[in-house]
Amino acid sequence: MADIKLLASLPKAELHLHIEGTLEPTLMWALAKKHGITLPYNSVDDIAKAYQFDDLQSFLDLYYQGANVLRDEDDFFQLMWAYLLRCKEDNVVHTEMMIDPQTHTSRGIGFDVFMTGFTRAIEKAKNELGISCYLILSFLRHLSEEDAIETLAQANDYYEDFIAVGLDSSELGNPPEKFVNVFEQARALGFKCVAHAGEEGPPEYVWQALELLKVDRIDHGVRSAEDPKLMTHLAAQKIPLTVCPQSNLKLRVVNDMAEHNILKLLDEGLLVTVNSDDPSYFGGYMNDNFVALNDALSMSDAQMIKLAKHSFDGSFLPETIKQQWL
Ligand code: ADE
Ligand code: ZN
Repeated sequence: MADIKLLASLPKAELHLHIEGTLEPTLMWALAKKHGITLPYNSVDDIAKAYQFDDLQSFLDLYYQGANVLRDEDDFFQLMWAYLLRCKEDNVVHTEMMIDPQTHTSRGIGFDVFMTGFTRAIEKAKNELGISCYLILSFLRHLSEEDAIETLAQANDYYEDFIAVGLDSSELGNPPEKFVNVFEQARALGFKCVAHAGEEGPPEYVWQALELLKVDRIDHGVRSAEDPKLMTHLAAQKIPLTVCPQSNLKLRVVNDMAEHNILKLLDEGLLVTVNSDDPSYFGGYMNDNFVALNDALSMSDAQMIKLAKHSFDGSFLPETIKQQWL
């Protein structure tokens, strides 16, 4: 079993995080009060108690509802700053996080509002905490490709602030092939590409993300283990999989943490990493995810070190900076 003191000492990068999924019940409650919004909860404790999910969709319903309290620039600043402070506690020195613009633009809140708040916190974290942060513009796959194309166009003044585009939300029934054109546009603009695939969806969705969207890494991807050919391809091409153990447990992708396949994927040579996805909703940040895995699967020190190193290896950091952490 790996030593938990080792975990604290290891610098780590987080590659799979939705900033809207870091909205803690206390901040949700405070912002609802600030904006005069009535929540369907009677207390902060009530909010936390509601976080019991049957599947991805039952989570997404609460997640989009929760984001409704984010209204002005300072709300987005506070959300980002709180997460980056949490990174400091866990020795997360670099993060590549998803923003879901459509969750905000559909409520009349523009890029000028949320990007100003987010970038103010990111700049502060760079200066005061020594944490670097890349942003990923993630399209909501339950919406149309036209909507995604319009969102990419609306982001025009903020392209410099994003490293990549991504694809998230309800996976089943919304395969990667639905978004071929918008990803082609994004690639032509110079963005890296990532997509959620193989979380609830079949290995076929992982193939589509790789072959049709030409993604640089796969978010989740745990169902790839069902397809031996895919496993060989992922290992040979060193495609990073950003795995989120506590998310998988909470959304019933796995029934028990002891059944999680991340160490099997690691031992088979895949570039897997540990991430928190939506930590406020799933019960833990980066180090909590490592602890949950260690408790259930008793990882070795070597496995823990390898997972931490993979987080830099799978990142979009320039090679020279990556090497400093490897
Ligand atoms: N949006 C936020 N978290 C997500 C997840 N785990 N899967 C798909 N979309 C998401
Ligand atoms: Zn995710």
